[in-house]
Order: sequence, then C-alpha cells, then structure tokens
Amino acid sequence: MTNYNPIPIYDDIYWDLTTESCHTLLIAPSGAGKTMFLSYLAGMILKRGHNLFIIDAKNTSFRATFQSSGVRTASTPDEILCLLTDLVESMTHDYDTIFSSNSVQLDDNFATHQLPAQVLIFDEVLSALDSGDKKQKVEMERLLKLLALKGRMAGYIIVLTSQRLLATDLPKTVTEQCQTRYVMGANVSEELFHLATGSYKKNLGTSYKGAVGKGYVVTPKNGLTYF
Ligand SMILES: Nc1ncnc2c1ncn2[C@@H]1O[C@H](COP(=O)(O)OP(=O)(O)OP(=O)(O)O)[C@@H](O)[C@H]1O
Ligand SMILES: [Mg+2]
Repeated sequence: MTNYNPIPIYDDIYWDLTTESCHTLLIAPSGAGKTMFLSYLAGMILKRGHNLFIIDAKNTSFRATFQSSGVRTASTPDEILCLLTDLVESMTHDYDTIFSSNSVQLDDNFATHQLPAQVLIFDEVLSALDSGDKKQKVEMERLLKLLALKGRMAGYIIVLTSQRLLATDLPKTVTEQCQTRYVMGANVSEELFHLATGSYKKNLGTSYKGAVGKGYVVTPKNGLTYF
C-alpha cells in the first residue's frame, strides 16, 4: 500500500511528495550530517511504499546498506548515467500513457492515480558531475534537468546534496526547481547560507544554530525555519 501522508521532518516541517516543493536540495559542509539525514528520508520513502533510487557518488556504506535491501543504486559515471536515463525514459513513458489523455484533470498527479512516487536520492551531486568526462557531465546535467522540470506530476522526485553551491556548479534550472532547501552545519559561510536559502545568516546574528544534524530549511509554505 502506498501512503501519501507527508513525511515528518521537524516540528511543523513536513516533506509532502505531492506538492510543488517536493524537489529538495540539501547543502552542508563535510561531516554536517547530509548522508545521515538522507538515510532517514530513504527509510521513510520505503516505509511509505514508494520506489527509491540512490546515487552515492562517494560509494559509501549508504549505498551498500540500501543496495542490500534491494534498492537500485549507482556510483560510477556509467552507472549514474544508466540510472538517470532509465528514470527519464520511464517518466516519459508515464506521461505518454497516463498523463497525456484528455481525461487528465488540472490537479492530477501520481497520487490521484494511486501510483507510487519514484524518488531519486542523489548524494554529492557535484562529485558525481566531476567524476565523469566532459560528455558524461553534460549528459548527467541534461537528464537531471528533465527530471527537475518535468518530474513532479508523475512523481519523479529528486533530492540532491552538495557541500557547496556556486552559481556555476549546478544548472540553474535544477537548483531553481528544488523549492525545499536545507542548509546544515556549524561552518556555513554567509555566502553559502544566502545562496542556499535566499536569506542572510547575519540576520540571525549570534542565534545561528547550525551544527551536526541541525540547520535551516526554506519552503514556500513555511519560509525560513530552524530544524
Ligand atoms: N542528526 C544527527 N545527530 C547526531 N549525530 C549525527 C547526526 N547526523 C550526523 N551525525 C554524526 O555526524 C557524522 C557525519 O555525518 P554524515 O556522514 O551524515 O555527514 P555528511 O555531511 O554526509 O559528511 P560527508 O560530507 O563527509 O559525506 C556521522 O558519523 C554521525 O555520527
Ligand atoms: Mg556524506
């Protein structure tokens, strides 16, 4: 059974896969708890009965753990391209067969059709982009853009993490489509905080409370919230 209840994150922050803000970007320096947080999200996706895909560019125990539970995973540039290509193909197929008919309503989505979401958790996206050759990088970016732009309605949802976020690092289309943004950790620069959340860390003054497993999240519904 697929369960569409929003996934609790902290306090009144929930991850609702059926909303516009489902695509997620998590920015945090090394050791701030990105992979640990992703493990929670991954577990909840499986518990809710959705399909999970994991890209772990650093090939850590995160991949191994979920791979041994039967989740499709990828680490090398070839594996990553193969997984992204399959996801885009299956997304295109879903649109052609389910969401293109005349009977589709404006508020139709995967949930109204009782379909599971197809969630891609992509840890260390910039390491992945840098791990391939030029041609592979361009193709990874193209496929990610397609998922980011077109995925929501059919339930193709992306969760990306990165240690940094420069304007040139990720295609703008991809970052813009990630309407839920997390920033975690103690050592977050003013610039990184601003790029990730659109807000200024200095406005929080001495009350900035980022640490391991702690930080801030921005959603269209709740604005900037501590978690
Ligand atoms: N929510 C948390 N509460 C307590 N400890 C945590 C939490 N999240 C992570 N940690 C601790 O911090 C360590 C680093 O976490 P994690 O590997 O998730 O960070 P990361 O951001 O993925 O780091 P890297 O950039 O090296 O991949 C973990 O080994 C864990 O012990
Ligand atoms: Mg990690």
